[in-house]
Amino acid sequence: MGKILEQASPCLPNLLGPVPGPLARAIIERDAAAVSPSYTRCYPLVVAGGEGALIEDVDGNRFLDFNAGIAVVAAGHCHPRVVEAIQKQAARLIHMSGTDFYYEEMVALAEKLVEIAPGEVSRRVSFGNSGAEAMEGCIKLARYATGRDKIIAFYGAFHGRTMGALSLTARKAVQRAGFGPLVPGVVHAPYPYCYRCPFGQEPESCAVECVSFIENTILKTVAPAEETAAIVVEPVQGEGGYVVPPKKFFDELARVAKQNGILLIFDEVQSGMGRTGKMWAAEHFDAVPDILAVAKGIASGMPLGATVARADLMTWPPGAHASTFGGNPVSCAAALATIALLEEGLVENAARMGAYLRERMRDWPARFPVVGEVRGLGLMIGVELVRDQRTREKAPRLRDKVVELAFRRGLLILGAGDNTIRLCPPLVINRDQCDFAIETLEECLTTVQRE
Ligand SMILES: Cc1ncc(COP(=O)(O)O)c(C=O)c1O
Repeated sequence: MGKILEQASPCLPNLLGPVPGPLARAIIERDAAAVSPSYTRCYPLVVAGGEGALIEDVDGNRFLDFNAGIAVVAAGHCHPRVVEAIQKQAARLIHMSGTDFYYEEMVALAEKLVEIAPGEVSRRVSFGNSGAEAMEGCIKLARYATGRDKIIAFYGAFHGRTMGALSLTARKAVQRAGFGPLVPGVVHAPYPYCYRCPFGQEPESCAVECVSFIENTILKTVAPAEETAAIVVEPVQGEGGYVVPPKKFFDELARVAKQNGILLIFDEVQSGMGRTGKMWAAEHFDAVPDILAVAKGIASGMPLGATVARADLMTWPPGAHASTFGGNPVSCAAALATIALLEEGLVENAARMGAYLRERMRDWPARFPVVGEVRGLGLMIGVELVRDQRTREKAPRLRDKVVELAFRRGLLILGAGDNTIRLCPPLVINRDQCDFAIETLEECLTTVQRE
């Protein structure tokens, strides 16, 4: 890891010509004929390989990756220690199915997740292959453990695309349209999106109306407390726009949940595994979930999801929940290597580089009229673009333009929410790479403003 963090200029982008090049164009054409049109591709990047925070495309162009495969490759692309763990494990045992047999890698990873999960709580782990599956485990366990069926989730939330997870998701209509009826019993509440407070408050006047609404309206009308199994929340809303709630939101949520015997499920699929500069976003708020969903960054790119629950809740009997591939030995080996790297310095690097980036971006709203707000924790940073800082009118097209321009300059970023740029680089990025990203984004913002 030291080597990667120490590298300087070889870690910066290098474009050989206009992108996409000819080889990329040919593959995109084949993709259009054979691959599902439901995938959203923001720009024509065709990846051949990756190392650290760099991506090389099929035409030999080098990009700086501030996406990390959508917040997945926590230890960077193909970290040597992760690759070694995968190769060693693959040579020994690729699959046995933890649903029916034992193997040590799964036990070791469960022990590690129990050790690092937020709060001093005795826990157990059930494995799946993705974030959505981790959420399915959360939903099923909450219903099973409480004997209640209703679940409260939040507007703007993204929890995945399987039917249960999709029922909690309330991000874009296109994600749900045509797929109903979804799982019944799910009710949505406004998320504490303070820049656009759903209750018209300012941070100073906020009385945590988002939670009062749950307590005084939802639980008293559509989801009676005695029928409500869980409240599901992303500690930092990811796809919704990298939205960071205030600590008092979590304090109040915990109070309401406790008073009503409702479980708290934290979806840390995007915010977990060191991304926010702490192992879990929950730690920023001193919040402790009853059940936790983990995926994305957990294995630096190998498919893996985990439902980590209070041991006294996870008492379902053999056969109640499992997955053939869930907790596959190769994914577990990659996860153990990733967590070791996180603990040896990558979480700290995320905190340090995140603080550095946000410090450099602090004056953006003053310098760029299109920047409404810069927010985030660690390396989970959102830049919300607006047409007018006073009215806060959203600027989705300008956002898309910045994303596209950045690509043309060798910086890979993505959008989140309607009009927010998301920065979620691998946790191995160094200062030179942060400087490149800042300077490139400043150029792009200047360009879109001029237009
Ligand atoms: C917070 C959150 N939960 C769940 C998911 C679903 O994860 P997956 O795509 O691995 O199913 C995502 C994916 O973006 C996510 O951001």
